[in-house]
Amino acid sequence: MANDFSPSSPTPLAAARPRAPLAGKIRVPGDKSISHRALMLGALAVGRTEIAGLVEGEDVLATAAAVNALGADASSAGGGRWTVDGIGIGGLVEPEDLLDLGNSGTGARLLLGILGTHAITAFVTGDASLRRRPMGRIVEPLNRFGARFVTREGARLPLAVSGAVNPIPIEYRLPVPSAQVKSAVLLAGLNTPGATTVIEPQPTRDHTERMLRHFGATVEVEPIRGGGKRITVRGHPELAAAPIAVPGDPSSAAFTLIAALIVPGSEVTIEGVGVNPLRSGLFECLREMGADIAFLNEREEGGEPVADLRARAGTLTGADIPAERAPRMIDEYPILAMAAACAHGRTIMRGLAELRVKESDRLSAIAAGLASCGARVAVDGDNLIVDGDGGPPAGGGLIATQLDHRIAMAFLVLGLATRTPVRIDDAGPIATSFPGFTALMNALGATFGGE
Ligand code: S3P
Repeated sequence: MANDFSPSSPTPLAAARPRAPLAGKIRVPGDKSISHRALMLGALAVGRTEIAGLVEGEDVLATAAAVNALGADASSAGGGRWTVDGIGIGGLVEPEDLLDLGNSGTGARLLLGILGTHAITAFVTGDASLRRRPMGRIVEPLNRFGARFVTREGARLPLAVSGAVNPIPIEYRLPVPSAQVKSAVLLAGLNTPGATTVIEPQPTRDHTERMLRHFGATVEVEPIRGGGKRITVRGHPELAAAPIAVPGDPSSAAFTLIAALIVPGSEVTIEGVGVNPLRSGLFECLREMGADIAFLNEREEGGEPVADLRARAGTLTGADIPAERAPRMIDEYPILAMAAACAHGRTIMRGLAELRVKESDRLSAIAAGLASCGARVAVDGDNLIVDGDGGPPAGGGLIATQLDHRIAMAFLVLGLATRTPVRIDDAGPIATSFPGFTALMNALGATFGGE
């Protein structure tokens, strides 16, 4: 299918226990969240933005193609270096064809935020996974700015958006903790006169706010009662092109890190990983579970905190993971569940309703996959409960990845510890976020291979 980035024939892959521990020092690809934002803000800035370390996964390449279709000029200079010649806020041109964001919720929702206050019409679609995901969460606030949408049943893609001609600034309280919704509203606020405010009862990743400031916009952040934030952006800032160094993606590093924790005798260092506190929930969980992980050489790069992460294998114990932590580690539950399956005792991961609307229904996908590998697992409302025996489960499952890169990588990692290999039905989706995953892991001593 032309608008589906996954290869038409699936690529099954198997993971078996390696004969030796994992060892080595690596870098993982650049942060996907930051990469999308760098391309989009670069497109809205005046001048040339130079980006280093952009992840060249399918999701981010789809965003690059979309900003180009809107009149910017994003081009690769090789090796993760990109330049974006921006057109300025308000300068978007009407795209001649569908904008296809592939598998990427972030690409689609943030771009729709920008489109919502530009007086052009665009048609947006994505792959089979993205076309199933809810867009009502951004359609609703963007309507309040004055944008108009025609969507499929349940506010699904493909949709048509006509951006507001005279946008009205809004104050919007997030009904779900979502950095994508927050970012869509803040980005819509850029081409809107006056002040646009988002109230988030639970803090979510703040890359948009940080990068807007980096480009010269005024963003005010006030704490509110209960730990949330009130974030205000002033409309019509002059965004000035600014260089961006994208740190390694902590959500990608998580797979390598947990592989090192569960393959006996392993020691792996991952250099240059983003450790933004609003992305670091997984590291807290792993410490509570007794993992031997260290942050080395902590520093700041391009406005984001960065460290080298060292992980050594060891015994893990179960933990009770509070719902409040979920927004700070929302993408890490698939891989945390694999660690929990290898731990001693019960791990309860609470408050995971949002996992049902990711690239797949991750709550079901994790539970079904773990059960097929012989683990004791249950879903209780929005909680996921995994009972570990102090060692890996038997393995042997064939995992349905459902166009979900993180489900694919999580179960491959589990297969490095189980007695019987774990197989996934399609490794294709891994290329959306972590190009080169298989080769990088195999270079550390993993045994991922065809059947
Ligand atoms: C992201 C926000 C999260 C996350 C996604 C990336 C972002 O989604 O799951 O992978 O870059 O803003 P939600 O905002 O839907 O929670």
